[in-house]
Amino acid sequence: MADLGCSSGPNTLLLISEIIEAIDEKCIQLNHNTPPEFQIFLNDLPSNDYNTIFSSLPAFYEQLTKEKGENFGPCFITGAPGSFYGRLFPSNSIDFFHSTNSLNWLSQVPSIVESNRGNIYLARTTPPSVLKAYLEQYKKDFSLFISLRSKEITPGGRMVLTILGRRNEDPFGKASYFLDLLSMSLNHLVSKVCLVLRLLIEEEKVDSFNMPYYIPSRKELEGIISAEASFSVDRLEIFDANWDASNDDDEIKESFISGQKMAKYVRSVLESMLAEHFGDAIIDVLFNNYTEDISNHLSKEEGFEHESNCVAAVIGLKSDDVFVSGTLEHLGHVVEVHPHGQVPVATVVVEALKSQEESY
Ligand SMILES: C[S@@+](CC[C@H](N)C(=O)[O-])C[C@H]1O[C@@H](n2cnc3c(N)ncnc32)[C@H](O)[C@@H]1O
Repeated sequence: MADLGCSSGPNTLLLISEIIEAIDEKCIQLNHNTPPEFQIFLNDLPSNDYNTIFSSLPAFYEQLTKEKGENFGPCFITGAPGSFYGRLFPSNSIDFFHSTNSLNWLSQVPSIVESNRGNIYLARTTPPSVLKAYLEQYKKDFSLFISLRSKEITPGGRMVLTILGRRNEDPFGKASYFLDLLSMSLNHLVSKVCLVLRLLIEEEKVDSFNMPYYIPSRKELEGIISAEASFSVDRLEIFDANWDASNDDDEIKESFISGQKMAKYVRSVLESMLAEHFGDAIIDVLFNNYTEDISNHLSKEEGFEHESNCVAAVIGLKSDDVFVSGTLEHLGHVVEVHPHGQVPVATVVVEALKSQEESY
């Protein structure tokens, strides 16, 4: 199996252990006496910190043996550096593809002819030509992604993807409001420039920064999948996803705590990109402002409306057998019964996760 856009941090191996656990539970249920061997490819861009992942593998294997016994697996984890917008694996070689929060990233900044003034992503003041360029780039990239994976997946294999999505067709909807707030924080730095900080950010720097990111709607995803035609949508579901990744409604009502968490999350994802464009010097000030801007926003009544309107799209695809989906904890909603006699690995995973979720 392969995890695409695995990053390097606690979530990387957490996801793998969840999948292994799900397969193990299913094997026990099905009385499969020989535990499966696992070959797992962790993919991200070549600049990803694979050394950190690899150095945590001995402890991971040891823990697995401790929990599951000497006869379990074995499990072989390998890095597969490269862009998922290119071929990563030989034909017919992967049973199960997974990806969380990575397929919103475009292969490049869309080709924009008009300036997206004052914005780093799509916003109400974005010119229609910029909106069109973003949508075109997303269509091209997601379609290419599906087509590449269709060559690499084994017959009967499955793919489960988490994608931050929009609940409706409004391209400037609430799902991207956290990026509107980041534009606002950057623009504060432009205006404070004159007053206090002397040229900290030039206005043109903000105007020329456009994130290679897209938050699709359900209709757009379905349209791309159907036009690409390798797969058909089996199932697509939308789930609420709190800004600060908290499941605790009381906790998110603490606007400052929630603002801090959200700012840290966005910083961990965007810091290097922002530093490259604006320089290292602004980063701390920017994210202090951003924490404040998010917290202020959340302290207003409608702030939480925005937060709860951030959603993850869950899609089930099948051709002769592919599949896309939403957040890990919701994989259980995407169940595909394979038409062939054997139960493929991914179906095992999804069914096991489904029974886990039903017992919650
Ligand atoms: C927000 S992180 C998600 C990390 C992890 N999957 C998780 O859910 O915690 C997005 C990851 O996608 C990776 N990524 C973005 N574009 C990519 C591409 N074209 N090919 C492979 N990985 C990519 C980034 O490097 C980053 O590690």
